[in-house]
Amino acid sequence: MSNSLRAVRGMNDLLPVDAPLWQYFEATLRDWLKSYGYHELRTPILEHTGLFKRAIGEVTDIVEKEMYTFVDELNGESMTLRPEGTASCVRAAIEHNLLFDGGKRLWYQGPMFRHERPQKGRYRQFHQFGIEALGYAGPDLDIEHLLMSARLWKRLGLSDCIRLEINSLGGAESRALHRQKLIAYFQAHEAFLDEDAKRRLIGNPLRILDTKNPAMQSLVEAAPKLMEELDDVALAHFEAVKAGLDAAGIAYSVNPRLVRGLDYYNYTVFEWVTDRLGAQGTVCAGGRYDGLVQQLGGKPAPACGFAMGVERLLALMAEVGVRAPAAAADVYLVNVGEAAARFALQAGESLRDAGLDVLMHGGGGGFKSQMKKADASGARHAVIIGDDEAAAGEVTVKPLRESGEQVRLPLAAGVRMFLAQKGLLID
Ligand code: HAM
Repeated sequence: MSNSLRAVRGMNDLLPVDAPLWQYFEATLRDWLKSYGYHELRTPILEHTGLFKRAIGEVTDIVEKEMYTFVDELNGESMTLRPEGTASCVRAAIEHNLLFDGGKRLWYQGPMFRHERPQKGRYRQFHQFGIEALGYAGPDLDIEHLLMSARLWKRLGLSDCIRLEINSLGGAESRALHRQKLIAYFQAHEAFLDEDAKRRLIGNPLRILDTKNPAMQSLVEAAPKLMEELDDVALAHFEAVKAGLDAAGIAYSVNPRLVRGLDYYNYTVFEWVTDRLGAQGTVCAGGRYDGLVQQLGGKPAPACGFAMGVERLLALMAEVGVRAPAAAADVYLVNVGEAAARFALQAGESLRDAGLDVLMHGGGGGFKSQMKKADASGARHAVIIGDDEAAAGEVTVKPLRESGEQVRLPLAAGVRMFLAQKGLLID
């Protein structure tokens, strides 16, 4: 196949063989979100570029080099495929005045786009499930989010392989103070800075702490710590979050170098990390962003949230052997002959009326080969129709997963038999 006809690098098809695990994951998450009272918000995949620049920050990897940005030729506007969901969520909340009667707990899911170098666990189109609680100030919402995520790992069978790292970035004043100290410190050691760090020195010195460059590790280790600048309010908030985690028995470690790659955070930030996926081990991340709503033009409203990488969590589930519950059909409809094919359509609809999942054999073939396909499909029963059955308005039912006689009976009686098996027959 010519390259131009292949999928774009870093953007993946979801194949039917993998779909059941995605569906199981999505269904589990919907259930989990409902149990905490979160409501779905769907926003467009395309937004004005300015939204992400203002929300995420001009001097961040995402805005500097990872956004799919293009000029809409029809009106000359700069557009961007969303690299994350928080900015859009806040934009929509402001635009539709969602906070008019108080805080809102929202969730979203869908594809996000970042022009990163693709590798295992890092894609250019990837999927997130994210939640945002807008309009809530206290640490109780930070704790709710951490408890929620811990519960989700448990539900997905992943508790043993995901650990929590937390940090506090403090309020604006602590960060400004820390920033000045950082700039002074790095300026004093400018000879040891790599190109990336030099570029960030004035624009975003906090991000230098996030460097992966081994040559800069000792410099970064010894840099002034933000934790030392936290004021009493920020410290109290952080202590309350930690106390909430302790009370719930959720283990965590404080990582003073956890600064996150997006500029909107303050106070609590956190990442859930696994060692089982190689370099791309962060499966879920977020924190508080009390200034963003106002920064994007809304009335001041504190907020916090997090987003998880679906591909990474699914890879982890596969790695630890979590499987989707089998989702085979109730009935595989075997039909041989023209009259049988016509009657099978009718029988299929009657069985579906009764709430059964029915897989109709397609593509012809004799009884033997159709029965093989019925067996391989995982269906619980074969309903067999030949021209004989069709002429009599009857079906032959053969259990495929458990022992039992095959029986031939009128279609209506067959439907009643299935209803009875499901405990749905009311006489
Ligand atoms: P983020 O850390 O940029 O935060 O992304 C959240 C998660 O998305 C990551 O932990 C990772 O699992 C997944 N992810 C990110 N980039 C990729 C990629 N290229 N390929 C595969 N997975 C990826 C945010 O996006 C914030 N909006 C989270 C948030 C919500 N903070 C507050 N509310």
